[in-house]
Amino acid sequence: MRIILLGPPGAGKGTQAANIVDSYKIPHISTGDIFRKNIKEGTELGKKAQEYINNGQLVPDELTCGLVASRLSEEDCKDGFMLDGFPRNIFQAEYLDKYLSENGIGLDKVVNIEVDPKLLVERACGRRICKTCGATFHVKFNPSKQEGVCDVCSNALTQRPDDNEETVSNRINVYLSETKPLVSYYTEKGIIADIDGAQDINKVFEDIKAALA
Ligand code: AP5
Ligand code: MG
Ligand code: ZN
Repeated sequence: MRIILLGPPGAGKGTQAANIVDSYKIPHISTGDIFRKNIKEGTELGKKAQEYINNGQLVPDELTCGLVASRLSEEDCKDGFMLDGFPRNIFQAEYLDKYLSENGIGLDKVVNIEVDPKLLVERACGRRICKTCGATFHVKFNPSKQEGVCDVCSNALTQRPDDNEETVSNRINVYLSETKPLVSYYTEKGIIADIDGAQDINKVFEDIKAALA
């Protein structure tokens, strides 16, 4: 199964990705996670990407596209993958199409998680993530059992530096102008599944499973 998860910042892509990879046994490829790992490790890519991410802007295509192509060419992606946060503009979508057709493969589904922008700031600003294992929580909507402590690995929870009101607003604007046009792009290809992401986390996953069945 080859899937794209599409949706605005805070829509629940990462949350649902964790459920999907568990059920479908495909690798989860999040460009945001790859950039954050590079920032943490202080690589050249991380240094170049950091300022864009902290401002809520897209990292330039020339840094992003090659990275995804090389990840997709790894052995574990042979039978399927789930892209989360890529493509994010028309250029990236066309780049991906070209990569897939050159490799004789195609996409099965684009899962489009729709959430009213009004809900997104609270979602992002209340998010807490585990630095160690990557698990995601929300102080109100999906709290960890013990405040500030990861349920999965017991390490400390933290906030992403781009999860403040100002940067989240920028990210939403970038989504509306650059990424949302992909909804029409994939609707025209007939492979999109629109999912109501304002429902509770389990119900969203039920709808995604039904769309992928
Ligand atoms: P990225 O890491 O992809 O961030 P994003 O797209 O802004 O999305 P988020 O990770 O913020 O949200 P999510 O949809 O995963 O939500 P989550 O499940 O965590 O990208 C970060 C940056 O990297 C970009 O701004 C850009 O700079 C750069 N970048 C990445 N990819 C790029 C690309 N292709 N090109 C160029 N630049 C790129 O949920 C959010 C919160 O809500 C959590 O707390 C969760 O618990 C809660 N929640 C989830 N679902 C529900 C629900 N149904 N009800 C209530 N609460 C919920
Ligand atoms: Mg995410
Ligand atoms: Zn953890």
